[in-house]
Amino acid sequence: MTVKTKFDIRPLSDGFGIEVLGLDLREPLSAQDFEILRRAWFENAVMVIRDQDLPPADQVAFSRRFGDLQIHVLAQFQLPDHPEVLLLSNEKRADGTAVGFEDAGRYWHSDLSYMDHPSLGTMLYAVRIPPAGGDTLFVDMYRAFESLPPATKARIEGRHAFHSYVRNYVRNESKPGIRPQLTDEQKARLPDVRHPIVRTNEDTGRRALYINPGFTFRIDSVEEAESDALLAELFAHCLKPELLYTHAWKPRDYLCWDNRGTMHHATLYDPKYIRHMHRTTIKGPSPV
Ligand code: SIN
Repeated sequence: MTVKTKFDIRPLSDGFGIEVLGLDLREPLSAQDFEILRRAWFENAVMVIRDQDLPPADQVAFSRRFGDLQIHVLAQFQLPDHPEVLLLSNEKRADGTAVGFEDAGRYWHSDLSYMDHPSLGTMLYAVRIPPAGGDTLFVDMYRAFESLPPATKARIEGRHAFHSYVRNYVRNESKPGIRPQLTDEQKARLPDVRHPIVRTNEDTGRRALYINPGFTFRIDSVEEAESDALLAELFAHCLKPELLYTHAWKPRDYLCWDNRGTMHHATLYDPKYIRHMHRTTIKGPSPV
């Protein structure tokens, strides 16, 4: 049976991801069309909805259809009136202070994997983009798991690893001095957490590697040197070119990624240009 929708869905790259054309998220989206979009997103891990004019209230309303939204610990970068929207921006106020978190995600990570309930998905709306650079890179963590040698799969089956925001916060700085210091109160809200190394996507049943260089620091019940070596081996495997997709942003892109089966990395750009993005994150279940 062919289901007719108002919008088109096309592959984004040879590897993975889809693009959606002909959809205006300010217009009502029927339950049936929403379900088609939701399934297409989760089956393809990365989805870009092109050509959006999306006020923050509409971004929040659309994101909420997928679940509860998370409020980021860096409260100073929440959008006034919409705390669910985190501003990622290098724009400065007249007094020189930053309007948004400039140094966000410039390392490989899966959003909020350092929480008990990490982000199921992230939605990032391009308000302003530089003429070049500032791409977002993705790894397909399903294929990363599936393509591991059987002996490596056996080594990680049933194992867990620890994730931390605080431990890696300063280490992940891309330019010293541009990260605000975490307060004691913020640190206290961010204890280390433990998640399975291989997790199952509740919506598709697919299994993915669920570790990332940004936040994962130790495999549980494995001696430190062996844990470091195994993590390094797994990360090197994930970064093979055939598992990567580079998202070169177009104006008004609305990019959605499923954190259960991807990790991503924001790249640098010429700071004389503004890159200004609105981010919402959907709360997921505890990984299993
Ligand atoms: C993030 O890690 O959420 C930021 C990604 C980006 O700005 O490209």
